[in-house]
Amino acid sequence: MDKQKNDEIRSAVRENYGKVAASGRAGCGCSTSSCCVTPNDVTSADISLGLGYSCEDVTAVPEGANLGLGCGNPQAIASLQPGETVLDLGSGGGFDCFLAVRAVGDKGLVIGVDMTPEMITKSRRNAEKASLWNVDFRLGELENLPVADGIIDVIISNCVINLSPEKERVFSEAFRVLKPGGRLAISDVVATAELPEDIKKDMAFHTGCIAGASSVEELQSMLQRTGFENIQIKPKEESRTFIRNWMPGSKIEDYVLSATIEGVKPRV
Ligand SMILES: C[S@@+](CC[C@H](N)C(=O)[O-])C[C@H]1O[C@@H](n2cnc3c(N)ncnc32)[C@H](O)[C@@H]1O
Repeated sequence: MDKQKNDEIRSAVRENYGKVAASGRAGCGCSTSSCCVTPNDVTSADISLGLGYSCEDVTAVPEGANLGLGCGNPQAIASLQPGETVLDLGSGGGFDCFLAVRAVGDKGLVIGVDMTPEMITKSRRNAEKASLWNVDFRLGELENLPVADGIIDVIISNCVINLSPEKERVFSEAFRVLKPGGRLAISDVVATAELPEDIKKDMAFHTGCIAGASSVEELQSMLQRTGFENIQIKPKEESRTFIRNWMPGSKIEDYVLSATIEGVKPRV
């Protein structure tokens, strides 16, 4: 893919999520609201409960932080420890960051990076409302992370990397900022079958977290080439039900599933 095409994709993604942030409405998982027919009375909290977050999780975060845009629960595999430094790739309204702050405590730090200015403004306001000082939201691209080398213990991310037109570069940046022994705990969609050409070319399917999904094999190769070890990518069969609801009738659940993606930066 050429640089111009990559920038076009990033612009479309930024525009879409800028509107989502401004509307503050619950999304349908990662899907675009234009294609999404989830009834209006389904809240972000309902979506998160369906993804495996607890009632305590959804009530613990500042109001407006949970936009219902995830496709899994990276906290469930991250095993966050007090004092750790966590980086959330594509932090949106800050939902996973605010939960991570609770896990790492006063001696820890959470950094959220997002390239959509409206999302960063929203998450910063949410942090201010909750008087949280150890969460830092930074405007930037995952392909050029605004984070120093080797300072992160754990990278979390929820339904974001599929949106990047340069996924290997994202993993390479993730590797750069992790400490030796640092780990990836990611939820994202993966392609389980070759997507039809019309879906692949449709930008609404890209910004809706479908058309940009890579296969398990592609992700495994990218992570290996970047230097990660102990790579584990596990598609979740049970996600078929909620993915079907993103765009009922379009059969996208036959092409993408939610998965957990884990890996470790070697210690030497
Ligand atoms: C589907 S939303 C998920 C937000 C959040 N992780 C959540 O679960 O609520 C995707 C987010 O990733 C951001 N994003 C997408 N591609 C990005 C990139 N290349 N660099 C930085 N942020 C990106 C978007 O701006 C958006 O806020």
